[in-house]
Amino acid sequence: MKIIIFGGDGYLGWPTAMRLAKKHRVFVVDNFCKKKIEIENQVTPLFQQVSLQERVDIWNKISKKNKIHFEYGDLLNHRFIYDFLKKIKPNAIVHYAEQPSAPYSMIGREQAVFTQHNNIIGTLNLLFGVKKHCPNAHILKLGTMGEYGTPNIDIEEGYLKIKHKNRYDILPYPKSPHSIYHLSKCHDSANIIYLCKIWDLKVTDLNQGVVYGVKTPETELHKKLNTSFHYDHIFGTILNRFITLAALNKPLLIYGKGEQKRTFLNINDTLQCIELALKNPAKKGYCKIRNQYTEIFSLINLANQVRDAAKKININIKIKKIKNPRFELENHYYNPTNKSFSKIGLKPLKLNSNFIIESIKYVQNNLKSINEKTIYPNIKWKI
Ligand SMILES: NC(=O)c1ccc[n+]([C@@H]2O[C@H](COP(=O)([O-])OP(=O)(O)OC[C@H]3O[C@@H](n4cnc5c(N)ncnc54)[C@H](O)[C@@H]3O)[C@@H](O)[C@H]2O)c1
Repeated sequence: MKIIIFGGDGYLGWPTAMRLAKKHRVFVVDNFCKKKIEIENQVTPLFQQVSLQERVDIWNKISKKNKIHFEYGDLLNHRFIYDFLKKIKPNAIVHYAEQPSAPYSMIGREQAVFTQHNNIIGTLNLLFGVKKHCPNAHILKLGTMGEYGTPNIDIEEGYLKIKHKNRYDILPYPKSPHSIYHLSKCHDSANIIYLCKIWDLKVTDLNQGVVYGVKTPETELHKKLNTSFHYDHIFGTILNRFITLAALNKPLLIYGKGEQKRTFLNINDTLQCIELALKNPAKKGYCKIRNQYTEIFSLINLANQVRDAAKKININIKIKKIKNPRFELENHYYNPTNKSFSKIGLKPLKLNSNFIIESIKYVQNNLKSINEKTIYPNIKWKI
């Protein structure tokens, strides 16, 4: 297959490119807007990454037959998208190219508008381009489990069978997200469901949980093929920040009560899900929605796991509750399903203390580069 990966410089895009290049012809596209946000907000991944072009060159030298092709491009530039899709005529597209940080989207008007404009218009441009130049291509679009929020009923996979006044229907699952970023994904989903129907497109919307881990068999082939590890309050996810605090021997910070539950998965399972979703494409005219996660943890449960693992290597840390900068329920029902991936063969990895210990040691190897100030949250949802 010919596959384009939009967002190929990103945390997930780069490892995905290497994995898919083993079996497919892969083209990666990025406009490096994440790098710009990093510079503007003075946050950097813990380990330096060489440029995408250099990573592609190293990969192409190592893997010879399975070359990756890189193209600079912006999803907001519809001319570029149209020309590129016309030239490549891909069989599949993996669309990661969005602004992925909830805290960033909540800084203020400029960041909120950028997030929704970039994500929603970029996705619309892609859908228009696919309709015009490669209407049979299967699009894998990354959504988030955060689209659902934390409703007091079970969370299904994208659609809900509803009985109302003695009539039934299957409708898009009601969304109650927790940030402007998550809202951008909900708007994307609504556009995708509609355009699939009227244009007969094939899209799989992957509602993904929080991804952890940086090692995949491909990143291990060369030290410069690494992906990013963010520990800061803008891009760093909860487990990365706990691991970094443990490595620094500092208390693990819990937002509010810490009973908030979220979904998680290992980066190797993200790659497994992408491969499985490619093998099991959506039907034309229907947006297939899959919940892409493997485990559910509350913040406090995750913090306990990190504290207990750290203890095994003689790091004794405390867990500290701080005022929640976010606006979210801190104690709630949470029961999402993820059966659609197990049905097509997902073999999930479990978070365990060996992984946590290995991650703490990985961070400890670069303690000097940590800018501790950037770990602590300073973006508030409510003023
Ligand atoms: N990482 C996670 O835990 C997680 C969880 C759920 C969903 N997701 C979603 O998965 C996708 C990838 O996440 P990630 O963590 O790899 O993010 P990332 O920011 O590391 O990667 C996204 C890449 O897309 C690029 N990009 C953004 N807008 C673009 C545009 N208009 N044109 C071209 N390139 C553009 C960025 O420069 C960046 O390199 C995102 O859509 C994100 O919302 C991620």
